[in-house]
Amino acid sequence: MKSSIHLLLVFVLILIKTTSSQSIIKTLPGYPDPLPFKLETGYISVGENDEKQLFYYFIESERDPETDPLLFWLTGGPGCSGLSGLIFEIGPLTFDLATFDGSFPSLIINPYSWTKVASIIFIDAPIGTGFSYSNTSEGYLGSDTISTNDNYLFLRKWLLKHPTFLKNRLYVAGDSQGGKIAPMVAFEIAKGNEVGLQPRMLLQGYIIGNSATDSNRDNNEKIPYAHSMALISDEYFELAKGGCRGEYVNPEPNNRECLHALRLVNECTDHINVPHILEPVCEFMSPRPNDLLSDPLFQDDDLVDFLSLPNEERSWCRSHNYITIYIWANNETVQEALHIRKGTVTDWKRCNRSLSYEHDVRSVFKHHQLLNEKGFQTLAYSGDHDMGVPYMSTLKWIRNLNLTVDDEWRPWYVGGQVAGYTEKYKNNQAYITFATVKGAGHTAPEYNPKECLAMIDRWLSLFPL
Ligand SMILES: *[C@@H]1O[C@H](CO)[C@@H](O)[C@H](O)[C@H]1NC(C)=O
Ligand SMILES: *[C@@H]1O[C@H](CO)[C@@H](O)[C@H](O)[C@H]1NC(C)=O
Ligand SMILES: *[C@@H]1O[C@H](CO)[C@@H](O)[C@H](O)[C@H]1NC(C)=O
Ligand SMILES: *[C@@H]1O[C@H](CO)[C@@H](O)[C@H](O)[C@H]1NC(C)=O
Repeated sequence: MKSSIHLLLVFVLILIKTTSSQSIIKTLPGYPDPLPFKLETGYISVGENDEKQLFYYFIESERDPETDPLLFWLTGGPGCSGLSGLIFEIGPLTFDLATFDGSFPSLIINPYSWTKVASIIFIDAPIGTGFSYSNTSEGYLGSDTISTNDNYLFLRKWLLKHPTFLKNRLYVAGDSQGGKIAPMVAFEIAKGNEVGLQPRMLLQGYIIGNSATDSNRDNNEKIPYAHSMALISDEYFELAKGGCRGEYVNPEPNNRECLHALRLVNECTDHINVPHILEPVCEFMSPRPNDLLSDPLFQDDDLVDFLSLPNEERSWCRSHNYITIYIWANNETVQEALHIRKGTVTDWKRCNRSLSYEHDVRSVFKHHQLLNEKGFQTLAYSGDHDMGVPYMSTLKWIRNLNLTVDDEWRPWYVGGQVAGYTEKYKNNQAYITFATVKGAGHTAPEYNPKECLAMIDRWLSLFPL
């Protein structure tokens, strides 16, 4: 009884205390025409005193927003903006890199946007990310738990303000670190529904890409992965496997055999670009510890001096694409068009690396297990050229759930070509679809947009990949 009164109070408080704003955006600087899709931006406040302001971009499905599912997209990092996920991964607009000359960039349509098949909320979370801010310094203290609770409260408030979307199938989605928070948020939603929290959400499941699960376990798979991709020799792999007994993270400081083997491994992999092992590393990035077992979930984009170099002396690397988004999002006209509150964020960053953030949940294996037992559906995809969170790490936790294989490892196709490999696991009515995206890096839709749209369209339509 007491707890239901408490719940009721929380519900009423939510209704009363939300300080929020939302705007429909018809045009954007850099795009010549009216936007051919519906874009809304806004703030929703969370925190005990509404001191935290979470910014979002919402884009309605370009097909049928009435019946298409709603995706709540969490970009990784932690600290990477929703705009980065929108522009470089799955949103309908992207920069015209072919014509970009260092001045104000042009926007073009991404024909492979996931908004072709779903409505998507891109959130700037946790606080300190993108345009989200707090008017207290405590508001900037973040952790997996705080971020999950804030995201969950955000979504409840957002749905109360957009009640027409309460009838749409809902999926929580994200890649990299966002793929660690996604099952945590899904789990909160499931629990909230069970105890009758309002609004009731039509959660169907979650979608994760090269997702962090348990950093020690994820990192441990980098060495078998490096071996399988011919970055280290059979001999070095055997040496490491034997010397370290298969445990490559935090080796005993007096285990000389293991340390020796790891040194040989590191010498081979030090200069490999972790998010996509075939792409060049960026020569103009500030030095960072490039240890195979450190946590390079996203690349630095310190764009030091790059633009001052003559064109012919610049060698391509992917991070240089990100210069566009800094120029665009820090422009005053752009911020006015997006209805950013003046003076709240002075130096917008694609990914904020100075967050004060505690990784207080070591592993989300349990979340995957419980959500599966509760009957929720999972799509876990992996760009197979990412060494940051290798596909082998994802396969490992899925296999550790001891589910029944429902559809054996097989290729899946787009345009008659093998787009990757898939395997489907079953537990009563709950399925986990695993899929590699062949040739893609850490953020798969950034590398193989066409294949990823086909994948998400089939999966959301309940077709086999
Ligand atoms: C922070 O903002 C909220 C909502 O606008 C307001 O109610 C609160 O008083 C502010 N707190 C401080 C410390 O300024
Ligand atoms: C900001 O964008 C506007 C509109 O595209 C452009 O005219 C202006 O020069 C830009 N401002 C700066 C400081 O780059
Ligand atoms: C990055 O995060 C720090 C710590 O949360 C915060 O103080 C800072 O304002 C953020 N930077 C930006 C550009 O938002
Ligand atoms: C899966 O099976 C193994 C071996 O029988 C067992 O050790 C493990 O606890 C099981 N995992 C789960 C999640 O039940």
